[in-house]
Formats: sequence, C-alpha cells, structure tokens
Amino acid sequence: MNVADERSISCWMDRVPVVEAPPLAADARCDVVVIGSGIAGLSTAYELSRSGRSVIVIDRGTIGGGMTARTTAHLATELDDFYSELIRVRGEDEARIYHDSQVAAVNRIEAICRDEKLDADFARVDGYLFPAEEDHRRDLEEEFDACRKIGVEVEWVERAPVPGYDTGRALRFPNQGRFHPTKYLAGLAQAIIRHGGRLHADTAYVSDNEDENGVEITVEAGHVIRAGAAVFATNSPVNDKVAIHTKQAPDRTYAIAGRVPKGSVPDALVWDTYDAYHYVRIQPLGEAEDLLIVGGEDHRSGEAEDMDQRLDALERWTGERYPSFTRAEYRWSGQVLEPIDFMPFSGRNPGSRNIYIHSGDSGQGITNGVAGSLTIFPLIIGEDSRFAPVLDPARKSLTSTSSLGEFVRGQAGVMKNMAEHLGPSEVASEDEIAPGEGAIIREGLAKLACYRAEDGSIVRRSAVCTHAGCIVHWNGFEKCWDCPCHGSQFAPDGEVLNGPAVKPLAEA
Ligand SMILES: Cc1cc2nc3c(=O)[nH]c(=O)nc-3n(C[C@H](O)[C@H](O)[C@H](O)COP(=O)(O)OP(=O)(O)OC[C@H]3O[C@@H](n4cnc5c(N)ncnc54)[C@H](O)[C@@H]3O)c2cc1C
Ligand code: FES
Repeated sequence: MNVADERSISCWMDRVPVVEAPPLAADARCDVVVIGSGIAGLSTAYELSRSGRSVIVIDRGTIGGGMTARTTAHLATELDDFYSELIRVRGEDEARIYHDSQVAAVNRIEAICRDEKLDADFARVDGYLFPAEEDHRRDLEEEFDACRKIGVEVEWVERAPVPGYDTGRALRFPNQGRFHPTKYLAGLAQAIIRHGGRLHADTAYVSDNEDENGVEITVEAGHVIRAGAAVFATNSPVNDKVAIHTKQAPDRTYAIAGRVPKGSVPDALVWDTYDAYHYVRIQPLGEAEDLLIVGGEDHRSGEAEDMDQRLDALERWTGERYPSFTRAEYRWSGQVLEPIDFMPFSGRNPGSRNIYIHSGDSGQGITNGVAGSLTIFPLIIGEDSRFAPVLDPARKSLTSTSSLGEFVRGQAGVMKNMAEHLGPSEVASEDEIAPGEGAIIREGLAKLACYRAEDGSIVRRSAVCTHAGCIVHWNGFEKCWDCPCHGSQFAPDGEVLNGPAVKPLAEA
C-alpha cells in the first residue's frame, strides 16, 4: 500500500501503476538498490542502469503511485519560495548553484524524452508570477532584483496571461516546462527495464544494515537485498528517525482539474504570491479541449478539517479568473515536505558511507527529484557533483532568522502534538463516529485511533505514530490518519501509506 490507496484520484492516476511489477520473491544482489519509485527514485535508477550498474527498485505500493502521481508537474526553475529569500538564507553563490540544478533538471527531462523517445507531453512554456495583493508588488520587485543578481532569466510584462483578471505587472520566466508525470514515469520504468534494471512493487523496506562492503536492505516479507549502495527516495526518509525530520515539515496541498475549450487558457505556468500560492497550468487533451489544473490552499499536515471548503475555494478562485472553467472533474490532495532553508536534501545520508537519501521537495519536487538524481548518481559512481555541497543532507540549515522562524514553527508543532498524549477524547464514545469517519478516543492512559467502517464495524488502533511517537489526526477527505509531526500517513486499518513510518499503527 502507498498513497495511491488514499481516497482522492488525481488527473494522472489512470496511469497508476505506471508499470506492473511483481513483489520481490527471494533474496537478491545488485550494485545499487533504490527504495521508492517516484520521480526521485526512478530518475536515479535510470541514470544508474543506463551507465551499466545493476539496479533493483522496490516500492511499498504500486510503481509510480506515490506523491508524483498527485503532482501538478510544473517544471519550474523559478523558486516557489523566491530567490530573494534563498539568497537571504544561503547567499548568492548557493542560490546560483541551486538555480543551475533546476535548469539542469528540466534540460535532463527534455533530453530523456528525446533520447528514449518518451511521449510524456513535455513542452517548454513561460512561467508568470503575479502579485496576489497590491502590497505584494514590492515582493516582485525584490524577486526581480534577486533573479538578476544570480543570472536567472526574467523580465517584466504588463500582465500575466490570466484571461478573466487583470493581474497588473508581472514577472515572466522563459524556458520553464510542463509534462505528464505518470506517462513520464512509465517511460522511465520501461527504459530502466530495457537497461537491465528490476522493479518490485508491494515490497516495503523495513530495515537496513551497512558494513564496509555495502548495504543490506530487509523487506517486509523477510527477503534481503545485498547491494554496494542504497538510495532512499521515499519522499520522506524511512531510514531516519531524527536528523532530516527536524529540518523539514509536512504541508498538505490541494488541486483541481476541469475541461476548458482549447485555446481559452494559454499554455503557460502561472503563480501568485501568497504563501499558500495558487499554481496554474493546462494539460492538452485533444483537438477541442484542454484540462485546466489549479493548485493551492496549503496548510500544515493534520491541522485542518475543512478540506472540502478548501477545494470549493480553489474552484471559486479559478472560476473568477478563468471564465471558460465551469466545473472540476478531479479534486485531490497530496503532501509536500517544506525544508527550512528552501532547498532539498540530496546526497550521502548523514553518518553513512554507501547510503544516499533524497527528500525536502517543497512545491518543486519534480525538478528537485531530478536534480537529486543528478547529484546522487555521480556520487555513487565516484565522480564530483557540483550540486552535492549545496544540497548535502548534512548541511547546517539554520543560517538566518527567517529559517529559524520555520524551524521554531516546525518544532512547536511537534511539542504541541506531544501534549495531545494527555488530552481528552475527540468524541464521548465510539457511537458518535459516523460510518466512513475516524476519531481519537482516550482509554485510560492510551489514545486510540478509532475508525467506523461503512458496514458499521469499528477498527481500533493505537493513535501513536510508529515513527517517533506523535498522535495521528483523522483526515476526513482522504480517509486516512495523518501524522502532523513528520508526515506519515496510515490507512483506516493502520497500514502505512506514507513514510517516514515503516510499521503499521499498533493493534489496540
Ligand atoms: C498537489 C501537488 C502539486 C504539486 N505540484 C508540483 C509542481 O507543480 N511541480 C513540482 O516540481 N512539484 C510539485 N509537487 C511536489 C512533487 O510532486 C513531489 O515532491 C514529488 O513528486 C515527490 O517525488 P518523490 O519521488 O520524492 O516521492 P514519491 O513520488 O512519493 O515516491 C516515493 C515512493 O517511495 C515509496 N515508499 C515509501 N516508503 C517506502 C518503504 N518503506 N519501502 C518501499 N517504498 C517506500 C512510496 O510508496 C512512493 O512510491 C506537487 C505535489 C503535490 C502533492
Ligand atoms: S511522522 Fe514522525 S512521529 Fe509521526
């Protein structure tokens, strides 16, 4: 199981699994084992298998069914947290290298589509950033100056291409991109197989052991994979209890998609300047129609119960700015991990020799995932990577007051959650839980995650997250238990859907 088993379906999920793959059925050996088959894992496995390394990819659920199947797939080299902020936190040199990593990622996707004859609807498009409010114009000016300082191509335009709304002056970023994410993953998976790689779905990692000769990965069914190196590309590192998780925090984000007449919405990426910014693109459908895809309304995971209202707000926002949009055929959500210094963690796992991780994607997880593969691949084959020092998972992330603020917010969330161990029940008794819903109930000293199935029966599990002990919260939209601390998700029966947890909620 993985997040493909959540309730909502994205507009790309008719292609999940992107390739059928059998579970691992026996012990195995390879040069590199990759855990996780999203954009980060398959991109890394592709580079390795193409260079002649023997590669095994395992995934706890379907291949390509993780957050990559829930994305909106803007291929942006502009930073969603803004380069003006990144320069404040990390300085101009690192910001320049980070931008180069994003350009390299979009170029790599384009090259792979061409070289592998991969039909994933890749296109170069412009990106536009417009002020959501009058007093955000200053932010745009600062961003323009920051981009110019580090060599990002950008120019002012009189307005962004939003048909029903005068955005006022906006920034235009040429040479961004868009693609169909699950078609792309399907092409990568087939290329990996052609290059001799093996993929195994329904094969969950549970533990690892590193020695001087390499790494042993044990999976849930007990089989062991012996490899020279291991790459954890599990979105949130499942091999780590603390180091990375104190440097990032999980946010839930929402997206909708609906048909519009072809040509009524320009083929471009459009973003506004809210913290929980709106992001807009189209996906071509045929001769007569396109799919308009709009995201936004983010909040810290586990801290909202008004998911339907958030999706309604997205539909309203879209209708007011895109008059040809009438109704959303798809409404879904997903999770992104916000690193406190705005850049992902890609490279050698802190304290390890042959274990590598990729995480901390923020809203740029597609380009960051590919940039991660371009960082980890050279490290594994013993070459230098220009991006490695900047994206190093062991870097000290607290370098400015603004990142300190994010850190304090993240840690305050964990402390607040720990206090919930002592809090009361959410409902007086199980009788108050409606079919298809869940609630936390206190029983003596224990907190229970109780779910009433559609047939009326009750499923009781411990409400204590198996990653590091926080109390899970019911997500009534996706019908799962979310852990607000570091982003684990569990099915109503307690099975893991998303890491960093690897064990199900305990029987109660
Ligand atoms: C609504 C939404 C919109 C977004 N829009 C954009 C956008 O426009 N542009 C952009 O760049 N980014 C965007 N993002 C972010 C981006 O999509 C993600 O960050 C990115 O897809 C994550 O890729 P990944 O490979 O790290 O993780 P995933 O795709 O989640 O892959 C990780 C895999 O690891 C597997 N796994 C987990 N635990 C285990 C285990 N124990 N054993 C084995 N396997 C395991 C999972 O099953 C999963 O398949 C968006 C995200 C969302 C939710
Ligand atoms: S995800 Fe870390 S405690 Fe739950």
